[in-house]
Amino acid sequence: MTDDPCRAVGPARPLAEITRAAERRVAALAAGRNPALLARVDAAIALLDQTMPGRGHRDLPAELFPLVGDDAGFVPLLAARLLAGIAARRPARAVPDPVLPELQRQAMRILTLDAASLDDDGFLKDLSICLLLSFPCGAQVVEQTGCLPRMALPSGGITQAMQLARHLAATGYRPGPYLEIHTHTPMLGDFNPAGWERCYKLVADLLALRPDCLGMIGGSWFYDPALAMISPRLTYLADTPIAGGAFRIRLGHSEADTGHATATSPTRRKLVAEGRYLPTRWLLIWPREALLTWAASRTGAIQ
Ligand SMILES: CC(C)(COP(=O)(O)OP(=O)(O)OC[C@H]1O[C@@H](n2cnc3c(N)ncnc32)[C@H](O)[C@@H]1OP(=O)(O)O)[C@@H](O)C(=O)NCCC(=O)NCCS
Repeated sequence: MTDDPCRAVGPARPLAEITRAAERRVAALAAGRNPALLARVDAAIALLDQTMPGRGHRDLPAELFPLVGDDAGFVPLLAARLLAGIAARRPARAVPDPVLPELQRQAMRILTLDAASLDDDGFLKDLSICLLLSFPCGAQVVEQTGCLPRMALPSGGITQAMQLARHLAATGYRPGPYLEIHTHTPMLGDFNPAGWERCYKLVADLLALRPDCLGMIGGSWFYDPALAMISPRLTYLADTPIAGGAFRIRLGHSEADTGHATATSPTRRKLVAEGRYLPTRWLLIWPREALLTWAASRTGAIQ
């Protein structure tokens, strides 16, 4: 089992308390600084509010970077200022009630970040959470801009292409949007069967508020069917959704997949070193109606 990097994440705090804590943090970070800094942070927030809806969490607008400059204090201030406005932003960006406690827990963690950077994918997920464009949901953070990659059709042979073609036909040949799940290091404390089941139920709550979303997708080495032989402990990650009507398609191999798959497991490291395992990325697709049906069948099954 991985260490629990989530142990610093405390209980959900009321939104009013988060707002007050964020305002105190803003005051502390801005103390003694040129007042123009806060004006630049607010300009950045206006820019992000305008441009980020509909874009992935990494796809920051180029106009943001001149505002940030080389001021190391800017990014923590940006996160704190966004969290100070979280209650005001909520009516415009709907958060289902069951997701709110997850958001409240992560908000307090994000407030304590000292070394935030726009070069860090982990922080970009946190920034997207602060903007209420991504949502912490148990084992995963969920964003609402997922799209089926073009390479998915040819990357896994004829059977896969036909399966995907059937799904595309059933969804009006639209590549998205899907709710896309991502592993987020600060949330690894919930990376276990219970945390995943909570994730899928919260995804169902998000889907209910987003009728345009076609379902849930997630891409990872851990959806590879080869894991049945290599890391059977992890097969629940694909088995539960597949039992609920999801399917998976092969995307291919990259060095990043090897890096992720070998990061924590001596077994997988050894097999890769011996040339007996090539970590390969698969995409899990859980169509909307199937996921909603699964979630309805699970109501009351887990807490
Ligand atoms: C995805 C991830 C969080 C899963 O972690 P996990 O649930 O602990 O499962 P892992 O298979 O990685 O476990 C790693 C080691 O922890 C130990 N372990 C895990 N679960 C265990 C359990 N239930 N009992 C005993 N030991 C356990 C084992 O030593 C295992 O090594 P092994 O494969 O040689 O047996 C972890 O692999 C990880 O952080 N990977 C890097 C980041 C990543 O892949 N992100 C996703 C990108 S798409």
